[in-house]
Amino acid sequence: MAEIIWGLATSHVPSIGAAMDNSKTRDPYWSSLFEGYAPAREWMAEHTPDVVLIVYNDHANAIDLKLVPTFAIGTAESYPVADEGWGRRPVPPVFGHPALSAHLVSSLVDDEFDITVAQELEVDHGLTVPLSVYCPEPGDAWPCPVVPILVNVLQYPQPTAARCYALGKAIGRAIASYPEDIRVAVFGTGGMSHQLAGARAGLINERFDRMFLSAIETDPQALSKISREEFVREAGSEGIELIMWLVMRGAMNDEITRIAETYHVPASNTAAALALFQNAGPQK
Ligand code: DHB
Ligand code: FE
Repeated sequence: MAEIIWGLATSHVPSIGAAMDNSKTRDPYWSSLFEGYAPAREWMAEHTPDVVLIVYNDHANAIDLKLVPTFAIGTAESYPVADEGWGRRPVPPVFGHPALSAHLVSSLVDDEFDITVAQELEVDHGLTVPLSVYCPEPGDAWPCPVVPILVNVLQYPQPTAARCYALGKAIGRAIASYPEDIRVAVFGTGGMSHQLAGARAGLINERFDRMFLSAIETDPQALSKISREEFVREAGSEGIELIMWLVMRGAMNDEITRIAETYHVPASNTAAALALFQNAGPQK
């Protein structure tokens, strides 16, 4: 039986990846953000999973507005790193886990989550930056294969927070029914409060962010009641990316243990955070 061993909630700000790629992590602008990552990174390095599920959104790099899947899953052997306009990030290739992807597709569809299947997919900063947050020095290869799970957060109407939480629960059931004894980690990426354009560009709402960081552990049910309008109002137009943290949380047990947390402003002109949880308490 497969088992989810930990969950990581993390921002996926592209400049965090660029700071790593360009050896700027010790610069005064960046050093405290990366120091904040250290305890989580040490713990994750000691608890290597066999595969990671990365819940993220594409930023109009692989998916344009011609076709907007609300939820999608990658089923490929490998996922090329997208060129987002500045060349591909100098990171290792991302290998998939087609057998686990196929199991997730059939289990989710049987569970009435009719997820779109992506047999080819280029992955952008939404997926590669969290991999770098997890593993800063991968060398030639990431520590394990990846299953990408995509959520539309760009185009109205985004899925509700409640639906994302329910998708996470269905993913948790799917993992629990996978017949092989593998250890799985789940990443929920994006957030925290940010708005990249428009009159409120640069919006940061620390009160909302800290409430969310705390309740993601203790009261995800309450977070699942936040409407998309409230996300946009409180956390900015891109702050709605936080719905993806609820997919991760839904996949985990009701009881989880917080291993590490950091909150940092600014990264780019956004609030960035990381929260790492070990799966604890009764199994699903
Ligand atoms: C930026 C882009 C993102 O996708 C994000 O989640 C946060 C910040 C940016 O371009 O700064
Ligand atoms: Fe983003």
